[in-house]
Amino acid sequence: MTRKNVTETVPADAEGIAKAAAILKRGGLVAVPTETVYGLAARADSAEAVAKIYTAKGRPDFNPLIVHVSDLDQARRLVDASAAAQDMAATHWPGPLTLVLPKRKDASLAPAVTAGLPTVAVRAPAHSVMRALLEAVDFPLAAPSANRSGFISPTAAEHVLASLDGRIDMVLDGGVCAQGVESTIVAFREDGEWEVLRPGPITTKGAAPHQLSSIEAPGQLASHYSPGKAMRLNVEFSEVAPDDFVIGFGEVAGDCNLSESGDLKLAASRLYDCLHQAAASPKPRIAIAPIPEEGIGVAINDRLRRAATPPD
Ligand code: TXA
Ligand code: MG
Repeated sequence: MTRKNVTETVPADAEGIAKAAAILKRGGLVAVPTETVYGLAARADSAEAVAKIYTAKGRPDFNPLIVHVSDLDQARRLVDASAAAQDMAATHWPGPLTLVLPKRKDASLAPAVTAGLPTVAVRAPAHSVMRALLEAVDFPLAAPSANRSGFISPTAAEHVLASLDGRIDMVLDGGVCAQGVESTIVAFREDGEWEVLRPGPITTKGAAPHQLSSIEAPGQLASHYSPGKAMRLNVEFSEVAPDDFVIGFGEVAGDCNLSESGDLKLAASRLYDCLHQAAASPKPRIAIAPIPEEGIGVAINDRLRRAATPPD
């Protein structure tokens, strides 16, 4: 590397994964593809490594991180998983589901990972690159989405560089993320009840996302995923102005279309790419077509509402 402040992007082949594992072992930061979004990984058992995540992202220290594990066995070294929680993990892992569970006293985790909470968010991701990396190291990986705090989440290597270039050691380029929105987060109570803290790709009928308390989901800030421009949601074609960057869905074509056929899964996978395009466009405003509030559309609308909320 001859230029200062440039982050290296490396293809996610065996050599790239070995290189990423070596950086992580010595406490560095690597952006890694998952099936949802790119994560900014560091070893979860090292206070120094975890501190670097907060610094690189500009993340408030009250916002805890998701700990990525290979499987339920590794998760159970960190958390107490009730039978109901284990059943849910068995159904959806590896996959885009994060479980918030009581932290074990002997869990080998840097305190900053949980931001002082008595619980840990754990997830076994499905993406082959992240899985290979977890196999190559003997510690779990703390990994928030690989973007500056508050900015648009990354579903491609270049999205990571848009806000973290020069701030992290490496990006492992594994192409575009298939799901495109962050994991569904479910919190289990001691009585076995559970609730959805963040809607995502795992959609459970009847499990409407709850209004969240500040203690329960410290990172679910009202303003998040922001492209840094005024944004209007549920805009019909007749209401579009010439200076709008239009994100379309179905028949509203737009400057970037989430899915011409109205496929919500495809729309989720394209959401952050369209927001990155909108942020980079010279057009000063963003208008978004209505997205049905069903299935993964609930997660899409959740992210859009936060992206449209100006910071305090
Ligand atoms: O799909 C995903 O979940 C991605 C990929 C990289 O795995 N990760 C991700 O991380 O979205 P992040 O940091 O952008 O969002 C994690 C969310 C935050 O809202 C945080 O507050 C919440 O998880 N969280 C973490 N630990 C928690 C805990 N113990 N209790 C409640 N919420 C927690
Ligand atoms: Mg995030």
